[in-house]
Amino acid sequence: MSTKNGHTNFLVTGGGGFIGSHLAEALVKRGKSVRVLDNFSTGHRANLDHLAGKIELIEGDIRNEATLQQACAGIDVVFHEAAIPSVPRSVREPEVNHDVNVNGTFRVLLAARDAGVRRVVYAASSSAYGEIGTSAKIEDQTPNPLSPYAVAKLVGEYYCQVFASVYGLETVALRYFNVFGPRQDPSSPYSGVISKFVTSLLTGQTPKIFGDGEQSRDFTYIGNVIDANMRAAESAAAVGHVINVGTASRTTLNQLLAELQQIIGTTLTPEYAEPRAGDVRHSLADLTRAAELLGYEPQTDLTTGLRQTVEWYREQTS
Ligand code: UD1
Repeated sequence: MSTKNGHTNFLVTGGGGFIGSHLAEALVKRGKSVRVLDNFSTGHRANLDHLAGKIELIEGDIRNEATLQQACAGIDVVFHEAAIPSVPRSVREPEVNHDVNVNGTFRVLLAARDAGVRRVVYAASSSAYGEIGTSAKIEDQTPNPLSPYAVAKLVGEYYCQVFASVYGLETVALRYFNVFGPRQDPSSPYSGVISKFVTSLLTGQTPKIFGDGEQSRDFTYIGNVIDANMRAAESAAAVGHVINVGTASRTTLNQLLAELQQIIGTTLTPEYAEPRAGDVRHSLADLTRAAELLGYEPQTDLTTGLRQTVEWYREQTS
């Protein structure tokens, strides 16, 4: 692997967020030099407290050219996690979704190219598939985005591929399937369902299910996503590709809630509400390409991941 000054320097955009802070932590544990760029719009400083003194932090916005120049200087590999997540938020706030997720990603790629960054690993989303039946989603399928968020994340992938072919910037787009784990923020109405369910159950509040609860997801523990990213930073075969990162197993929301109630020891009856606009019915990853190009296979299954996640939220609430 080519490096600057003899060792690889990493930038994590959105390093104050849920996934980004786990990436920063994993890199620090591997003895890497890590810079984090975050404007703390959805991320939190507290996510980086345990890394104080071990990372360089730049507080700023990925839409700002000067900030990006500073952030990319001397960097070999960028993990681009900065984004405004959430399908329903993008339905309500399409402009900010477009601005951060499309324009921001474009700016990150430009700055990386101009700074001589070797590789950008991009946080793409399974939402790009939209509604393509119940079978596992394969990367070659024609995308069918159903929300502004899905469109934006897909545009980011296309830009990644074009920056690889036209400018020679090594890019890898990882399509994450519903990531969960410690540090996922449950406080927003747009937060991921597992963070919502766990904190509801732990505080004795009624969990809310949008729709009939028979929609399904490939819920992926954060540790698997970190492993895939580390591989994507190294793999020569992955360059220019879009690659699913999931677990290849499907769980309905009703099943998820039942499993969490068993782990936590509750028997709360959920409230069923109207389905959310832009929601995908079923989502499941095919992992053939991830295995071929990254040597990836999920190490942590749903039950183990849920137990570790519940443990973490318990510590926070006690
Ligand atoms: C989507 C993407 C995912 C992306 C994420 C970013 C798909 C298949 N997945 O996740 O790749 O990273 O956006 O935000 O598009 N729900 C409830 N009760 C709640 C909260 C949610 O029933 O309190 C339901 C939702 O309606 C949805 C499911 O749970 O059907 C999952 O929702 P959420 O966790 O927000 O993720 P997705 O929108 O699936």
